Amino acid sequence: MPAAEARVAVLVSGRGSNLQALIDAQDRGALGPHARLVAVISNVADAPALERARCAGIAAVACPSRGLAARAHEAQVLACLAEHHASVACLAGYMRRLSAEFVDAFPGPILNVHPSLLPAFPGLHAQRQAWAHGVKVSGATVHLVDAGLDTGPIILQKAVEVHDDDDVERLSARILAAEHDIYPRALSLIVSGRISVTGRRTCVDPEPRNAGQKTF
Ligand code: GRF
Repeated sequence: MPAAEARVAVLVSGRGSNLQALIDAQDRGALGPHARLVAVISNVADAPALERARCAGIAAVACPSRGLAARAHEAQVLACLAEHHASVACLAGYMRRLSAEFVDAFPGPILNVHPSLLPAFPGLHAQRQAWAHGVKVSGATVHLVDAGLDTGPIILQKAVEVHDDDDVERLSARILAAEHDIYPRALSLIVSGRISVTGRRTCVDPEPRNAGQKTF
């Protein structure tokens, strides 16, 4: 069953280049007819990502987490998502781990983009972890969010070769370009109802089946 329109909220903490990739994809029609970016929520009041949202005419909401208990902050974010009738949430450089209660309480799928080929190098500074480990290939992952740290079912990945003369900055820039490529594609697949999940395995269906579902 094809989707009703998915109302997508993007959660951010910083510069917002992945947010921009989603905005640009929407502008060129690459998110398909089923998705609309309706709100950008930042836990950092002066995050540059909020300005990107304003420039794109998307509601930009600061929900500062500083000084708040995690539970109180998450309650505010959930209220904001509900206020904007968000049905899909995309984490895009959102530097907080969501609790199991948050993941259960949000009614739709939650996606995250991570700068490594998961399950390698979860958590912070994934590009530096990969470079320091000496891997020859790293990359980017978009996955569904569960209560673990970067552990949810993988939707898309893109590999990036590590060059002998790379430093962390050069490697990170190529990984970021891979993130910008796969995040809009993964969101488009989710909102068009073409992702099925069986256990940890996801696959792309030729026909839409699962639009708007939280579990697949
Ligand atoms: C990205 O590398 C993302 O994978 C990670 O944090 C970074 C955020 O960058 N979680 P931006 O704010 O999207 O530019």
